[in-house]
Amino acid sequence: MSNTTSDDSLITTEVQADSNDDRAPLGETGTAVAARNLDVYYGDEQAIDDVTMEIPEKRVTALIGPSGCGKSTFLRCINRMNDMIEICRVEGDVEFGGKNVYEDDVDPVALRRKIGMVFQKPNPFPKSIRDNVAYGLKIQGYEGDVDERVEESLKAAALWDEVKDQLDSSGLELSGGQQQRLCIARAIAPDPEVVLMDEPTSALDPVAASKIEDLIDDLAEEYTVIIVTHNMQQAARISDRTAVFLTGGELVEYDDTAKIFEDPEEQRVEDYITGKFG
Ligand SMILES: Nc1ncnc2c1ncn2[C@@H]1O[C@H](COP(=O)(O)OP(=O)(O)O)[C@@H](O)[C@H]1O
Ligand SMILES: [Mg+2]
Repeated sequence: MSNTTSDDSLITTEVQADSNDDRAPLGETGTAVAARNLDVYYGDEQAIDDVTMEIPEKRVTALIGPSGCGKSTFLRCINRMNDMIEICRVEGDVEFGGKNVYEDDVDPVALRRKIGMVFQKPNPFPKSIRDNVAYGLKIQGYEGDVDERVEESLKAAALWDEVKDQLDSSGLELSGGQQQRLCIARAIAPDPEVVLMDEPTSALDPVAASKIEDLIDDLAEEYTVIIVTHNMQQAARISDRTAVFLTGGELVEYDDTAKIFEDPEEQRVEDYITGKFG
């Protein structure tokens, strides 16, 4: 983000408007996930400050904001990945399927099958391509045809054609972009409802990143995608809704992506997206 002019020319919602034509208009779908008065602390440090937002189903919602503003923390609250961090404390609700995921009777492992996650650095297991994708199916005791589901998942992740003749070779032998698509296949194999992605293209070259962007657009026909990105052009290209977090874990503005990038309500948001800070 060096200057306002290049940002303005790059942040266009044309691609988004075209590519999302086949999805119903916003407002005609239900809510997949809702945060209600969510606060998150690491020890005494507050990382998320009273965030309330409803995330539409079968849409791409982008979370943007400067480094350290709580984007990853917020994402990890949704499938309780923060449970793994000893000093992390969550207050407030995250509703999924009409239930607060922080209630005592929610099984976090079952929750994570319904809300899969993909990370910044592709992290395939040191296993075959097939076993990587089948991993979650085995844990859940999948009773269907595993090979069939592996194929479907690899197809849905736009990787099948590249790997169909080498399913027994190690996932680690693939290129970075292929590894990330493998991780996406692994996340969607158990047929989740929501896929969380934390800067999934930032470790990839532009061509590999662009393939993942195309894939995300396809995924939103079937899944709710919630993606953290520090790349504002990417948010403008691929998301339907954008949430802008600023320092201190405050959700400053949340709206249709076109509105956020073309005519935000908040001066702080305008300053951020035009590169004045952050
Ligand atoms: N595991 C952790 N332990 C302690 N503090 C953390 C941990 N993870 C994140 N934080 C702090 O929480 C705040 C938000 O971090 P994070 O959610 O990673 O932001 P972002 O993803 O927007 O860069 C930062 O101040 C960060 O230092
Ligand atoms: Mg982060």
